[in-house]
Amino acid sequence: MVGNSMSSVSFLKCSKTQLQEISDAERAKYAAFLAKNLKLDMSRGKPCKEQLDLSRPMLDILSATSDLKTESGIDTRNYALLDGIPEIKKLYAEILGVKESQVIAGGSSSLNMMYDTVQRGMQFGFGGHTPWGKADKIKFLCPAPGYDRHFAVTELLGIEMIPVALRADGPDMDEVERLVAEDESIKGIWCVPRFSNPTGAVYSDAVVKRFAAMKTAAADFRIFWDNAYSIHVLTDGAPELLEILSECEKAGNPDRVFEFTSTSKVTFAGAGVAFFASSENNVKEAKKVLTIQTIGPDKLNQLRHARFLKDKAATLAHMKRHAAILKPKFDAVTDALTAGLKGLGIAEWNAPLGGYFISIDVLDGTAKRVVALAKEAGVALTPAGATFPYGRDPRDRNIRFAPTLPPLDELKTATEIFISCVKIAACELKIES
Ligand SMILES: Cc1ncc(COP(=O)(O)O)c(C=O)c1O
Repeated sequence: MVGNSMSSVSFLKCSKTQLQEISDAERAKYAAFLAKNLKLDMSRGKPCKEQLDLSRPMLDILSATSDLKTESGIDTRNYALLDGIPEIKKLYAEILGVKESQVIAGGSSSLNMMYDTVQRGMQFGFGGHTPWGKADKIKFLCPAPGYDRHFAVTELLGIEMIPVALRADGPDMDEVERLVAEDESIKGIWCVPRFSNPTGAVYSDAVVKRFAAMKTAAADFRIFWDNAYSIHVLTDGAPELLEILSECEKAGNPDRVFEFTSTSKVTFAGAGVAFFASSENNVKEAKKVLTIQTIGPDKLNQLRHARFLKDKAATLAHMKRHAAILKPKFDAVTDALTAGLKGLGIAEWNAPLGGYFISIDVLDGTAKRVVALAKEAGVALTPAGATFPYGRDPRDRNIRFAPTLPPLDELKTATEIFISCVKIAACELKIES
């Protein structure tokens, strides 16, 4: 029964006896994996060594004898330029499609800039409005599945999270528009608009325009536009993202968006350059606090980055070299998932065109069990539920797969183990029910 003849028959049509046979066969495979004492990490979207090596030449750009002045003649070794050096601001303005005056180039982490921005809203408020922290209740909309660290920031700062469904072309905008129009305590929304973490969704032009034009009950409502994967394309022909700052300006809501990105997965994670982009008003307001908070970013690192990445065309060429390393890894996972799970009615997944993740929906009620089984067999996955606010996946089905870090052979083994775990967990649930 088990084997090729059964392998593509939907579990939904199998009798309990047939499921038991499938389960026994998968258990035997799983036991063999257990015996190998593996230690494979698929839990976080980290660049692999080969990707990091692509940016190694950047380390030779500055030396003891280099000219360390910016194009405007400022010595990057000294205090100055709170909002970053002009050449790196110019490069990222070009990449994001905004004006240089709308960009702040900061430290190495965009997550840090996001945290600071939400914290500023809580403590000082935006645009002269009451600080969010003074209200009884503040809420953020959280398209889900989404990025666990966004949810962690909002939770830590005491903001209530409301999940909104994320679709292939962006959040459910009917729901977003309805909620922001009727509830003044909703002050923000988290968005990863191109190659979202984890589903790979790219927001359509229509969604961007609706975000720009929608009526909000809160005058100080802000969109946290985390464009972390803006240029992290895996295949040619991936959809472009409409530039939102100018759309908001056209719609009469120029101060609505805070945009973020970084070079964490362009050059070095944790040692790159992070960016904040917004209206000139918002940039001015952010700089008022920055001027007290810091003496400025690491300008030597910004200079190194500006000279290494050069311009948008050269940066996109660099990203193609990342894609050449990553695409075979994504393909290995999606090919294995297709071979092992397609047609069984127990899992659905995406084949993303960019970004860092594959999002897999397993049978409702089995995600936690799959992650636990994988852990026992030495495969670390992102905890089940992490892609939802408060770690609560209402259907206990979404699992984030991060294929970038492990070498290809390890990745293939990890995916095989994962497939076994999905089947075992599905059999357990169906046999018990
Ligand atoms: C959507 C998203 N935003 C931000 C980050 C972190 O960015 P940074 O390294 O610039 O802090 C990540 C990292 O995984 C991410 O997936």
